[in-house]
Amino acid sequence: MVQNTITPALLAYSPPDPPLKEFTPAKDRAFFADTEKRSLLSAASAAEDLTPYIGTELKGIQLSQLTDQQKDELALLVAERGVVLLRDQDITLEQQHALAAHYGIQDRDPNQQDPNHVTIIGRGGNIRAHGHSGGEYHADHSFEVNPPSYTLLRLVKTPPYGGDTIFTSQTALFDKLSPTFQKAFEGLHGIHSSDRAYVASINGGGSPHRAPIATAHPLVRTHPVTLLKVLNYNPTFIERIEELNGQESHHILAFLREHLLQANDLTVRWKWTPGSVAFWDNRSVVHRAIPGGYDVTLREGKRTAVYGERPFWDPERSESLSQRLERLGANGHAIGTANGHENGKSEGLGANGAF
Ligand code: SIN
Repeated sequence: MVQNTITPALLAYSPPDPPLKEFTPAKDRAFFADTEKRSLLSAASAAEDLTPYIGTELKGIQLSQLTDQQKDELALLVAERGVVLLRDQDITLEQQHALAAHYGIQDRDPNQQDPNHVTIIGRGGNIRAHGHSGGEYHADHSFEVNPPSYTLLRLVKTPPYGGDTIFTSQTALFDKLSPTFQKAFEGLHGIHSSDRAYVASINGGGSPHRAPIATAHPLVRTHPVTLLKVLNYNPTFIERIEELNGQESHHILAFLREHLLQANDLTVRWKWTPGSVAFWDNRSVVHRAIPGGYDVTLREGKRTAVYGERPFWDPERSESLSQRLERLGANGHAIGTANGHENGKSEGLGANGAF
């Protein structure tokens, strides 16, 4: 069990790198996509929506072979569907780095040793144990001023069972709140802190290269591509709600955690196989890698991500998913796209066109 207390190792440790400065990333590649995603979807043999709210599996396509146009359309599909999943990918690590570079500047987790990727391993233990860390839902390092936007994880080896990852749509999580709670949460800020991760890392023998930080981000954010309202909740890193008193903050965060854990209908669960990939939008999705019950040495992956914009809240330009569907007179629940249409015929809702 990793100690979450002040230890001599913690007191002696001094991280080598300065804090990151806020910056404005280049325009999101999804804005360069054909809203129908014709090039990408016609190259795939199938694009199957796995659940109503999140997750599309692309079949018959290799990430290593994508044209720039198809990469942009993939970004749009990820922004719309939260996570795009693929199997049997032949992409090499170098090609994965190049693909990430198409979407922006490679981000670096404070605990990331290689500047270009994180090596993801299996997680053991009992998720219910006191102080168990690593199995909680999270968006990756949301405490950064510029948290990641697009994140790609490719597993190179996988156990025969166990180690699945669950992805949950924060667009849908916001949408499922009552209008009263939606209004109450809009305009609030969560304080996202890396304190606990920093302490656990050093006490576990790690050497984070940056000091911990705490950043206030909107609790409801506007997704820059879809312009949908997204709950920006993160049980791993949010410590409190800035505008609330202590008890109020404590109970609202407890409610939000229950809201998230209750959301099996807003979730997709991915069983990994060697060479499979999950490409998710870290701005609108939380995920959890389910720990325990398998041989952790059999799970290994490479994660690449790029810095996104500073999360923002633009009430004038954004709407909830239900408002969007009502305005468009659309049936059903899906945010958009492929819904099982073969060979690229998509009847879905495009983010920056049909929306
Ligand atoms: C992560 O938390 O980014 C890794 C997810 C996983 O191991 O499936």
